[in-house]
Amino acid sequence: MLALKRAPSISIKTVGPFDLGRLARLHQSCFDDPWSRADLAHLLALPGGFGLLARLFERNLSGLDGMRGVGFALCRVVREEGELLSIGVGPTYRRRAIGAALLRESMERCRRAGAVAMFLEVATDNESAQTLYRTFGFNEVGRREGYYLRPDGSRVNAYTMRCDLTRDDLWPLEAG
Ligand SMILES: CC(C)(COP(=O)(O)OP(=O)(O)OC[C@H]1O[C@@H](n2cnc3c(N)ncnc32)[C@H](O)[C@@H]1OP(=O)(O)O)[C@@H](O)C(=O)NCCC(=O)NCCS
Repeated sequence: MLALKRAPSISIKTVGPFDLGRLARLHQSCFDDPWSRADLAHLLALPGGFGLLARLFERNLSGLDGMRGVGFALCRVVREEGELLSIGVGPTYRRRAIGAALLRESMERCRRAGAVAMFLEVATDNESAQTLYRTFGFNEVGRREGYYLRPDGSRVNAYTMRCDLTRDDLWPLEAG
């Protein structure tokens, strides 16, 4: 069983139609090739698609309390397979166990929706994300040449990673 750092006081909610603007801004802060609101709406409307938004309770400069969107995960479940389509945490909120909390919740939701395994693609040069995925039991099962197109026109390879959601030593993932 995995022991994980506890995330700061975040709440994770399912993305709804009113969250699309916030989700698009967060996605833009995490990736060079941001997805538009329309792209995101399309993904979430796919059969088995869902999104998660991590919100952090914060007091802003005017002294008002509020929930700030700090991270997201986008997933899809088709029959017995879950897929992590995208995950990101706002640059100033990283290394605070928010990505881990989002991944854990994504895996739980996929499992509850009937998935026995979960897949994802990750750029071969994205070592921080690979470390996160390995912590949760994902292993490389394939490699896709030139999978990502960077804004400068260069191509980057990707690993396909898989996690068995039925493993006894993996589930439930306990917060430490
Ligand atoms: C990948 C990402 C989602 C991680 O989010 P995060 O909230 O910073 O991750 P966490 O704090 O939950 O980290 C959990 C573990 O992952 C690993 N990890 C995360 N970021 C890391 C980094 N920069 N370097 C090394 N390990 C890292 C560590 O093992 C970490 O545990 P530790 O902090 O106890 O050492 C975030 O870096 C991000 O949004 N990156 C840009 C978008 C992206 O690349 N998404 C993935 C696309 S496949």
